Amino acid sequence: MANNIKYSKTKIGVFDSGVGGLSILKVLKSQMPNDDFIYFGDTKNVPYGSKSKEEIINFGLDTLKFLDKKGVENVVIACNTSSALAFEALKSSYPKMNIFPLIQTVAPKLSKFNKIAVWATNGTVKSGKYKEEILKNNPNAEVFEIPCPDFVGIVENSLYEDEKAIELVNKTYIDTLKLAPEKIILGCTHYPYLIKMIKDVNSEIFIDPASVFVDEIKASFSNYDKAETFGRVEFFVSSEPSKFIQNAKPFYEINERVDLV
Ligand code: DGL
Repeated sequence: MANNIKYSKTKIGVFDSGVGGLSILKVLKSQMPNDDFIYFGDTKNVPYGSKSKEEIINFGLDTLKFLDKKGVENVVIACNTSSALAFEALKSSYPKMNIFPLIQTVAPKLSKFNKIAVWATNGTVKSGKYKEEILKNNPNAEVFEIPCPDFVGIVENSLYEDEKAIELVNKTYIDTLKLAPEKIILGCTHYPYLIKMIKDVNSEIFIDPASVFVDEIKASFSNYDKAETFGRVEFFVSSEPSKFIQNAKPFYEINERVDLV
């Protein structure tokens, strides 16, 4: 991970396949309020979880090209799937950019647990990235990576009241509890919004890595200066801006314009 970066107020690029990365943006805005952010949701290509590594790398390269043109020097990969499959390729194509990958940044902080379940997309689970990164710090940890391929569609289509969706999320929760994990990591930035669908939920068991991620990002700026100014956010998507605004609504009120790129 990038470290000891000399901080200057700058535009920070944040990207995901859709609305999921807003769970990271929300924390970034509250912890780094003087920065300007550019959020990009690749809604044309969502879901990322079912795509090949090559496709995820290509989506990432297109996104970085766009952010680079916008003058962005710091990029937050607010997507577990892209962090797992594309981080190395993006870093070598844009060596001058500070790129913060989600999984690689948060895993050392999650390694204090010995029995961990991770809910994630097919792509993230297949990569085995969470397990790999956690075991680096805690070789004795048991890590169960559980694919939840239909969860992103629930959030991208606001299906919180849909009976089948409710059943699926609850069944996944109950099945996961049978493994008796200490914690369940929400290993996809879309998933925090699904917890309210679970009946009799023990919300303490879940870890949303967003705050650990943002703490680490902020800490990597050696001289982070919390000026008394307020940054702004620009939003871009690759298709259907109005659908993006609509699907964000249950958890993120977008009052800015959302442009199509
Ligand atoms: N929100 C992303 C993640 O954290 C991508 C989900 C998807 O598009 O499948 O993995």
